[in-house]
Amino acid sequence: MNPVNLDGKLIAQVIKNEIKSLIENKFSDEVKPGLVAILVNDNPASRIYLNSKTKSCAEVGIYSKIIELPVSTSESELIDLIKQLNENDKFHGILVQQPLPPHINTNRINEIISPEKDVDGFNPINMGKLLIGDECFVPCTPAGILELISRYGIAVDGKHCVIIGRSNIVGKPLAALLIQKSKRANATVTICHSGTKNVENFTRSADILVTAMGFPMFLKENMVKENSVVIDVGINRIEDRTSAKGYKIVGDVDFENVSKKVSYITPVPGGVGPMTIAMLLKNTVEAAMKISGIKNV
Ligand code: GUN
Repeated sequence: MNPVNLDGKLIAQVIKNEIKSLIENKFSDEVKPGLVAILVNDNPASRIYLNSKTKSCAEVGIYSKIIELPVSTSESELIDLIKQLNENDKFHGILVQQPLPPHINTNRINEIISPEKDVDGFNPINMGKLLIGDECFVPCTPAGILELISRYGIAVDGKHCVIIGRSNIVGKPLAALLIQKSKRANATVTICHSGTKNVENFTRSADILVTAMGFPMFLKENMVKENSVVIDVGINRIEDRTSAKGYKIVGDVDFENVSKKVSYITPVPGGVGPMTIAMLLKNTVEAAMKISGIKNV
C-alpha cells in the first residue's frame, strides 16, 4: 500500500492562513510584528532559506528585513548589532542564520539574543525551559515536526521515536520536546549519532523515525519498521545531469524504496522545510503579542 505523504507545504499554508487572520485581527498598521534575519556567510543555500522565510513573512503580514554581513564580520561586531536589535521596537523576532563562520562562537551569539525575541528558541534560557517543560519559544524545526504529525492525527504518546542526529537545532531540542509528560508528547526517545554502532538496530525498532544528519539517501528500506512513520529533515544537493540546474534536492531517506514499506513519510522538498518556516512565523507573532501586551483571547 502507498504511504500517506505528510504534506508540509499544504499544512504550512493552512497555518500561514491562520497566522494571517490573527495578525489582521490583533495588530494595526502602526504596530506590525517584525522579524530581522542576519546572514553572516556567503552560502547560497542560507540565502535561499532566508529569502523564503522573508517571503512567507510578507504573505502573512509580518514586516521583515535581512541584514547581510560579510564573512569577515567579527564576533564582537555581530554581538554589537544584536544588542542594538534587542532594543529596536520594530523587531519582535531576531534570527541569526546558521551555520556561522568558524571564527564566530554560535553559542555565544545565541546567548546575546534577547530571550523575548529569540524566535529560533536557541538562547540557552529557552533551551533550558524546553528541557524542564516550561513555556518557551520552541526551535522551529522540532516544533514543525510535532505540528505536522499532530495535524495528521498521528499520536506520539507511548511510541518509540528514534532521532538520527544530535544537533542543537534539531536532534537535541526534538528529543526534549518528545519526552515531555504531555498529551502531545510522552514518547520513548532514542538519539543516534555518528558514534552509534549498528544504527539499524535502533532504526528498525522505531515507530517514528526522524533523520536529521545531512547524508543523502542514507536511510534504506531494510532499516525501517513496517508501517512506521518516517520524517526526513535532510536537505541535500546531489548531482543530477538530467536537470537544467545540474543538481537536485534529496533528503536523508531513500524515499522511493522506504516509502514502499512505511505508513507515513515526508517528501523532500515539501515536508519539514515549509513547517519550519510556518513555526518561525508563529513564534514571531507570539513574540510580538507578548512584547506589545496583546492578549490572544
Ligand atoms: N540553519 C538551519 N536551520 C536553521 C534554523 O531553524 N534557524 C537558524 N537560525 N539557522 C538555521
